[in-house]
Amino acid sequence: MQPILLLTILLAGANAALDCSVVPGNLKQIDAGDGAVYGAATNGTIWRWSSGNWVTVPGEAIHVSVGPAGVWSINKAFQIYKLQDSNWANVAGSLKQVDAGGNKFVSGANSWGGIYCLSQPAVLARPPPPAWVNIAGSLKYYSCGSLGCWGANALNAIYYRSGTSAAACAGSGWTYVAGSLVMVEASTDGRVYGVDSEGVAYQRDGITAINPMGTKWTALDFCSKIQHVSFDSGFLWLINQNGNIYKCQDSINDNSVL
Ligand SMILES: *[C@@H]1O[C@H](CO)[C@@H](O)[C@H](O)[C@H]1NC(C)=O
Repeated sequence: MQPILLLTILLAGANAALDCSVVPGNLKQIDAGDGAVYGAATNGTIWRWSSGNWVTVPGEAIHVSVGPAGVWSINKAFQIYKLQDSNWANVAGSLKQVDAGGNKFVSGANSWGGIYCLSQPAVLARPPPPAWVNIAGSLKYYSCGSLGCWGANALNAIYYRSGTSAAACAGSGWTYVAGSLVMVEASTDGRVYGVDSEGVAYQRDGITAINPMGTKWTALDFCSKIQHVSFDSGFLWLINQNGNIYKCQDSINDNSVL
């Protein structure tokens, strides 16, 4: 009994311990998904992580997202674009934040807190028709992963959206989740991370297919204040309030821990 208990404690402790390195560059927002990483800089330039370097992507964005639904961006006029054949195809509508992490569906929030999604058939059309579905409620940030969608509202309250699917992206209902976040990102593998108004980054523990809302928030220990976070393919990407970029890996993957 005792060895098993000890191992559990080690795993739980190691879960929150991360090996991080600084990545060159300066970004205000970053999104990792479907094996790719994109970011937007304060001056509106768009960047893609490629073999250890940031490569410039033509266009201009305040927010960019990559995932199973492709690469999407929002410009400073809140216009929506999808990258198709190396060109940005405009999709009519207005959002200030977009998320491509759903199962080939897209989600986002507009400047007034309106919540919208675009189901898989529209996402896959060329170019996508603006068949936006309004979701009842009000959020400033809304992100989807393989195990559902998460959002934060104007008061930093957190909600989980259940029942979302490729064909019916709107899902079926909201569940309040205790905590306080200014942004929350659900990843393709189901993991969820967020940042609070003090610049503290959190990971959601206990997420499984059966319990997609998980159990609790665990604060990640960083020596600087974080403004944005995204997770994909085993790596956690963070941006601090000065725009510096960090790439982290669970130290559980590091043999030195065990
Ligand atoms: C925009 O910002 C990025 C990141 O800080 C920088 O590398 C790039 O040179 C800037 N580009 C322009 C045109 O100012």
